[in-house]
This record gives sequence, structure tokens and C-alpha cells, in this order.
Amino acid sequence: MTKETLTVTDNRTGQTYELPIEHDTINAMDLRQIRVDPGDFGMMAYDPGFKNTASTKSTITFIDGGKGILRYRGYPIEQLAEKSNFIEVAYLTLFGELPTQKQYDDWAYEIRHHTFVHENIKQLMEAFRYDAHPMSMFISTVAALSTYYPEARDIESADARMKQIVRLIAKVPTIAAFSYRHSRGLPYVYPNNDLGYTENLLYMLDKMGQTDYAVNPTLARALDVLFMLHVDHEQNCGTATMRVIGSSHSDPYSSMAGAAAALFGPLHGGANEAVLRMLVEIGDAKHVPEFMEGVKNRERLLMGFGHRVYKNYDPRARIIKKIADEVFEITGRNPLLDIALELERIALEDEFFVKRNLYPNVDFYSGIIYQAMGFPVAMFPVLFAIPRTVGWLAQWQELLADSTQKIARPRQIYLGEGTRDYVAMDARS
Ligand code: SDX
Repeated sequence: MTKETLTVTDNRTGQTYELPIEHDTINAMDLRQIRVDPGDFGMMAYDPGFKNTASTKSTITFIDGGKGILRYRGYPIEQLAEKSNFIEVAYLTLFGELPTQKQYDDWAYEIRHHTFVHENIKQLMEAFRYDAHPMSMFISTVAALSTYYPEARDIESADARMKQIVRLIAKVPTIAAFSYRHSRGLPYVYPNNDLGYTENLLYMLDKMGQTDYAVNPTLARALDVLFMLHVDHEQNCGTATMRVIGSSHSDPYSSMAGAAAALFGPLHGGANEAVLRMLVEIGDAKHVPEFMEGVKNRERLLMGFGHRVYKNYDPRARIIKKIADEVFEITGRNPLLDIALELERIALEDEFFVKRNLYPNVDFYSGIIYQAMGFPVAMFPVLFAIPRTVGWLAQWQELLADSTQKIARPRQIYLGEGTRDYVAMDARS
């Protein structure tokens, strides 16, 4: 009978320790018993970027990075992308099960009837410069929502939490659309509660004076599938941020503003914007070999490639690539696709990329589709944040329900100065 333990010998003292193993993991606090002198603090693990540290137990999303597997609540992303829709996947992610028809109808009704924002939010957004980045406007406005719903600070109340969850999921498309219209100097288009989730977003973004404006259903469905693919991705940087802020019992609006700020970074959800800027800079497929030499010489990153978890093709990128063809049927082919395909072709063959398991990730092809649909590049991180709102909130709920969780407060290895006395100004060299 094998023992589920790890035996560790501290060669400094010859002392041996037996550490329990659970889920192929040891509890970091079990290291603290390893010390040279009884008065020592005890041993810690050092893990910059948390590359090998589990911060929580979760039942929401499963990723197998080696096999390129992604499942929400056990359902493969490929099946959900083909058979489900964003509102249903949002329900599944938050509540853990696929909804019955009545549960779905009630949930869809709730989301459709909380799309409006307070009129003061419009005035708040008017204060941004004309060229304010839409993602910065999104982050600021989400934080500002907390001033309209003070009951959101009652995070112990399940009812209060659910009210804010519905509000955030319903309102982020409106905030996104208002950010876009502001950046274009266009009047805001109010939500139309008769429309579906992505249909309403496209309506608020695109409608001008037409009285018979209709959203293209193929584009609405393509965006719905893209949104499903972006709902959650276990403990990524933005979600980890949501959990860190949420662990101090901050309200969900303030927590999510922080999560969105983390997502904005070009190494994370801001990569979709960085990919497009990279493709435009390359300009033509014939410049790809020269560009790739620059990447191999460490002069820059190949944006949209590589992943902390996937050491195989990101399953989302595979699905997104298929959606591109459906969208281009309507919008016309995006010429940047040729550059992207050439980058991928070389990366999948070249030893530098193969050795480092650098495959296209979710951000590589999504931007090409968004641009073909007419979205300005600066809107791409916002289009990531809208669906990820569901994942952030589901993970936030799970955090608050987990009695083993505490306020996040990592330790450090101090390598600074020892004690020294204050030196008067005239005595300093
Ligand atoms: C997202 O975590 C998630 O789940 C995130 C996400 C989600 O849904 O929430 O999936 C969304 O953020 C996708 C990733 C989008 N970011 C990009 O496309 C930016 C480009 N990618 C890199 O910045 C990088 O790949 C990361 C940040 C995504 C992952 O970095 P890691 O895990 O810290 O890996 P690393 O930096 O240790 O890289 C390992 C090696 C290094 O080379 P060596 O020092 O070992 O020689 O690979 C190299 C890196 O230099 N490398 C790259 C590269 N990514 C890694 N070299 C060139 N181009 C790249 N893109």
C-alpha cells in the first residue's frame, strides 16, 4: 500500500519530515516545520509568477495544457461552442449545471432587463478625453458602478451578490458600447431589451439613424461563440487578481475593475490588440521571415503565441480560426490573415518555437475577426473583458464560499539592508 506522503530530508540538520500529499500537491504550510533552529520562521516555497503554485481548489474550469483540453464544469469547449450560447454558458459557469428551459428563460430575462446604466454614468463617461482608450474607460466605469449600489459591499449576502452579478453581466456590453461611441464622438444607443446578448451589443455599437436597423445574425452568432470561448480560464492573471481583491472582501465592482486592469496588460488579454498592431507593422507576409529573426534574437515577443498552461495548440484558437471563415463570408477576407497564417506556419516548424511549446493562443486569431467585423483595435481588450466578467464572478463566488480561503497575502525573501541608524542630512555623503 503506497503512502500518500513525501519524505523530505533537510541535509542541514539530517532531520526527516513526512509531508502529506493531496491531489498530487503538498500544503505549503507543511514546509514551515522545516527549520534549523527552533526559533526560525520555517521553510517557504519561492515561486515568482506562481508558475507552480495552486492558490485554490475549484470545480469551475479544467484545462489540460499538454493535451489542449478546456472544459467548463466538465463540458468540452468544442461542444459548448457548437451547441450552446453565451447566456447558457454563463448560467453553467455560475451555477454549475446546464439550465432547464425555465431556468434558462428566467436567467435570460434577468440579464436582458438590467442592461441600462444610471444616466450619471453617461455624464461620467463624457468626462473622458475624446481619445481615451476604451479599456481604460471600461475599467474606470466598472469601478464607478460600486457608487450606485452600496449594498454590493454586503458580500456575505447571497442575494446581494447575485443582484450585482446580474447587473455586471447585463451592463458590461452597455458600458463597452458607450465607450466605443464616446471614442467615435457618436451619440449613445440605448440597449434594446428585445435583442439577444451579442445582438444587443452590436446594435448599441453600430446603429445610427436607421429606423429599420437589423444586426446580421451570422455576426451576432460568431460573436456569441467568441464570447463563450472567453468566459473563463481557471486561475489566469485577471482571475487571480479578482480573487486577491475579493479575498479582502471588497465589493464585486471594485474587485472586477482590478481584474479588468490585469487583463488589459499586453501579456494577457491586451495581447489581442498587440497582435493586430504586430500584424499591421509586419505589413506583408514576405516580411515575416525577417520579423521572426527579430523574435528569435529576443528583440520582441511573437504576440498571440505561447501560454503559461497550454504547451499545445490553445483549443480556443482552433475554434476561432474556423469562425474566421464564416465572418469573412460576410465582411470580406481580412488580408492580415495571410500574415498570421505565415507566422503560424513558420512558428510550428521552427525549432525556437517548437522547443518552447509556442503555439497560437486565444488572442492570435480573435483580433483578426474583430477587425474584420469593424471593431477598432483598441476595443479588443474590452471584447475580452465582457465575457470574462462571467468567469471572474463565478470564481469570486467560489472564493467566498470556500471556508479554507483567507485574505491573500504572499510572503517574500528579504535581501535588503540589515538594521542601520538614521543619518542627519549634513552627515550624508
Ligand atoms: C492570455 O493564463 C491564461 O489562461 C491567460 C488567457 C486567459 O484566457 O485568461 O489564456 C489569456 O493571456 C493568453 C496569452 C496572451 N499573451 C500573449 O500572447 C503575449 C505573448 N506571450 C508571452 O508573453 C508568453 O507566452 C506568456 C506571457 C503568455 C506566457 O509566459 P510564461 O508562461 O511566463 O512563459 P515564459 O515567459 O517563461 O516563456 C518560456 C520561453 C522563454 O524563452 P527562454 O527564456 O526559456 O529561452 O518562451 C519564450 C520566453 O522568452 N516565449 C516567447 C513567447 N512566449 C514565451 N518568445 C517569443 N514570443 C512569445 N510570445
